[in-house]
Amino acid sequence: MHTSRRALVAGAAAAALGSALPTRRGSAAAETREYRLIAGPASVNLTGNGHPDTAVWAYAGTVPGPVIRACQGERHRVVVTNHLGEDTTVHWHGIRLPNAMDGVPGLTQPPIRPGESFTYEFAPPDAGTFWYHPHADALQQLGRGLAGALIVEEPEPVAVDRDVLWLIEDWRLDDNAQIASGFGNRMEAGMSGRIGNTVTINGRVPDRVSVRAGQRLRLRVSNAALARIMSLRFEGHDPVVVAHDGQPCEPHPLEDGRLVLGPAMRADLILDLRGEPGRSYSVIDDFYRDLAYKLLDLVYAADRPIREHPPEEPLRLSANPLPDPDLGAAERYEIVLQGGMMGGRGMMRGMMGGGGATWAMNGRSMTGDDHAGMPPLLMLRRGQSCVLALRNETAWWHPMHLHGHSFRVVAKDGQPTARREWRDTVLVPPRGSVDIAFVADTAGDWMFHCHVTDHQETGMMAVLRIA
Ligand code: C2O
Ligand code: CU
Repeated sequence: MHTSRRALVAGAAAAALGSALPTRRGSAAAETREYRLIAGPASVNLTGNGHPDTAVWAYAGTVPGPVIRACQGERHRVVVTNHLGEDTTVHWHGIRLPNAMDGVPGLTQPPIRPGESFTYEFAPPDAGTFWYHPHADALQQLGRGLAGALIVEEPEPVAVDRDVLWLIEDWRLDDNAQIASGFGNRMEAGMSGRIGNTVTINGRVPDRVSVRAGQRLRLRVSNAALARIMSLRFEGHDPVVVAHDGQPCEPHPLEDGRLVLGPAMRADLILDLRGEPGRSYSVIDDFYRDLAYKLLDLVYAADRPIREHPPEEPLRLSANPLPDPDLGAAERYEIVLQGGMMGGRGMMRGMMGGGGATWAMNGRSMTGDDHAGMPPLLMLRRGQSCVLALRNETAWWHPMHLHGHSFRVVAKDGQPTARREWRDTVLVPPRGSVDIAFVADTAGDWMFHCHVTDHQETGMMAVLRIA
């Protein structure tokens, strides 16, 4: 499904539920694009083929929510209205913005109560593929469908035939295609989190994606699942990675031929469609060894290729204005990830936080949505270069996300990384370690947490204070 205007109009068409069409305010010199987003219950068809509709919670009545297309450096205002039966907020994942716009209830803003609205306003400094989701009762709100893509356009995008978004969500549906209850299951929370049984792309169980030989696609793949980690293999194709988490990188092939994305992670790929006309090629997700499945088929039209050779245009995206950390002068902090069930032995460790926590960082656990009054895990001086040495003592994978900043991944298991890529979420393997580096350049209280939502809500969450 192609996105942008069409998806926005689709959102607006659900008139009673709200529109995401931008309206322009103010003079030409200082204009602000304004969007309206209503979060509320809706009913959508996820599974197709005459299956029943699913009752969801949605932005503007659609799953995923409308694609917000923003312009780099321009001011945008998004008025969010809450038609849910509980408090909500919106977090603009990966966007470097003022702390007050970050969407963490009790920490950066009061929660948006049912019936109320909150106005977010920011000028995204970085172009790229980002997303938005609630930060209140995140397990249920994200798990019931509240998520959408936020694409910040480059002033000069790479030349492609189609710019395609795949926003991937994972649902646990019952036999009637309704969302199964049991959010916050303790056993699951101590293991891999709530992994579902139904994977959708742009709100539909995918089947076939029609393509034309010779085309060049930009594929923005975004993992918006609660807990499912994905490892995508593109049979017969060699995608080139041009950005991680919205931040451009040196174009390179997939590592080991697979695209590994933990929850909240994104990648921008350039995919030259060099398959044979009339054939189809599978995209497989085989992250969980015994649970490999076919995500979809790329089905080539029988027509002859639109061009004989891939275009010559360069693939490199222009760099975003990120402050580069000075590794020589950086302050180094170790953060130990602890807790969870230990493999098959059924033991819990790292329970020092009390309050029913399952996970911890450096012996401390922050749980639920009660973000007020939790002393910061680290106090960072504004402008300081920092290295966070993340050491995973647990038996589980953790996609660790820092709010309000992008960071360079500088080492894995003690070895310097070749590309030092920028990210906002990094997957830390069981018993593995990853060093990330960034400049603590924006003042405020910023969340640093695991994006496996069950882990986040049961202790693997902390505040970093930059002052
Ligand atoms: Cu995408 Cu704190 O989250
Ligand atoms: Cu985790």
